[in-house]
Amino acid sequence: MMKASSGFFRSISIAAAALAASTLLTGCERPPIDSVQHGFRGTGMVQVYNPRLLIPETHKNVVPDPIPAVPSDGPRARDAYKNVQVLGDVSVAEFTRLMVAISQWVAPNEQCTYCHAPGEDFSSDSMYTKVVARRMIQMTQAINTRWTAHVAQTGVTCYTCHRGNHNPAEVWFKSAPQVQATRGLLGNDAGQNRASPNVGLSSLPYDALREYLSSNPQEIRNNGATALPTGNRSSIKQAEFTYSLMMHMSDGLGVNCTYCHNTQNFAKWDGAPPQRVTAWHGIRMAREINTGYIEPLTPVFPAGRLGPTGDVAKVNCATCHQGAYKPLYGVSMLRDYPQLGRVGTAPAATTAAAGGARR
Ligand code: HEC
Ligand code: HEC
Ligand code: HEC
Ligand code: HEC
Repeated sequence: MMKASSGFFRSISIAAAALAASTLLTGCERPPIDSVQHGFRGTGMVQVYNPRLLIPETHKNVVPDPIPAVPSDGPRARDAYKNVQVLGDVSVAEFTRLMVAISQWVAPNEQCTYCHAPGEDFSSDSMYTKVVARRMIQMTQAINTRWTAHVAQTGVTCYTCHRGNHNPAEVWFKSAPQVQATRGLLGNDAGQNRASPNVGLSSLPYDALREYLSSNPQEIRNNGATALPTGNRSSIKQAEFTYSLMMHMSDGLGVNCTYCHNTQNFAKWDGAPPQRVTAWHGIRMAREINTGYIEPLTPVFPAGRLGPTGDVAKVNCATCHQGAYKPLYGVSMLRDYPQLGRVGTAPAATTAAAGGARR
């Protein structure tokens, strides 16, 4: 009897221990986990991957087959059509091919009618989507010609961000100020602790992208340049903002901090992987995309597309990268659509020669 009951209690306590362990482990990922050395041996610079999570990522990043190439000679689009402001120097055949590609990339269900109202002449600019698309073509050309320090010769197309959607899956808006029904009862969240996807669901300041990827960007620094507060405005809050951005960058690219930093000293550029330099250019590029192209389109978008404070959906690292260290794992779609890799203007055919030029 004694023996039986102690066995009973032992199995209860084993079951309880197993339950406690499994509860504790639910936050962990099931092995095996792969790690890939990414820096000098002994520096702990490894990237940790869960092979099971990589499978859906790989499926997400398959590139659609290119549309067969067409002749680049023959009449120019600007001569054949009435209202071609950007793609004027492209041949009519290439122009049509590009319209078909754009439809597949941005509006696979509606096709042409997403930007051209049925029954209207194709030259009409009555649909806001066409006006936005024209600016997006210029933006894509600018990324591919002015920002080769980031996108290299791989470049981007509409598909890099849109992936068959009207609106890219990963965008950001400025956050609305905290709503307090009973003033003071809930306290001020001080702009953090909202588990925002913009900051990798951390408790860090959730509106960090506004500080860094829009106009009037803040310095991305943890420490001030001087020891005493003589003009040194660095604060713990600013450091937290910096970490928010870093969480977003890691999350957006699906990498650890050591993909860009030697953790011996986060601020030092010596000994940091070259990817950190690419990322530095990426931050500046994302700013220019937002301030130079997307934010000025705000009045063109219908109210329903705007965020809680009336701003337009903006680009961050995840808009192109979508969890991959290189968007679409480095496959170049631009190669098949070189019209998006040069600066287009209607009047001067000579600007086509500027294709691929470095800044
Ligand atoms: C995502 C938006 C979008 C979609 C989808 C789209 N277009 Fe366009 N289309 C444009 C833009 C923008 C221009 C103007 C380009 C410029 O100014 O250089 C244009 C211009 C044209 C023109 C020139 C009209 C003129 O006389 O000025 C034709 C023709 C045309 N598109 C045909 C098509 C066809 C056919 C389809 C479907 C296969 C299509 N488009 C799908 C955005 C789109
Ligand atoms: C760097 C990323 C990026 C690239 C590249 C890009 N877009 Fe966009 N696009 C955006 C963002 C961000 C928005 C705003 C999304 C929102 O309102 O949610 C947008 C919105 C649009 C819209 C409006 C859709 C709607 O329903 O409101 C159209 C049309 C569009 N893009 C066409 C294009 C075309 C055509 C190209 C290629 C020539 C292109 N985009 C390339 C990021 C991009
Ligand atoms: C994709 C590359 C990349 C990743 C991933 C990344 N960083 Fe950074 N980090 C940078 C770049 C680039 C800068 C410099 C930004 C600038 O000056 O514009 C920087 C700056 C910093 C700074 C400021 C250093 C100073 O000068 O005061 C800190 C701290 C930092 N990162 C920490 C982290 C942490 C922690 C992580 C992981 C959560 C991380 N970083 C992930 C690229 C990266
Ligand atoms: C407009 C699309 C776009 C945006 C936005 C973007 N990137 Fe990239 N990024 C690319 C492309 C394309 C490449 C691939 C270039 C190549 O093939 O070398 C790349 C490459 C990189 C690499 C190099 C990876 C490697 O292993 O060599 C880093 C690091 C990087 N991006 C960081 C960032 C960060 C951080 C941000 C946000 C601040 C960002 N990117 C925003 C398009 C983008």
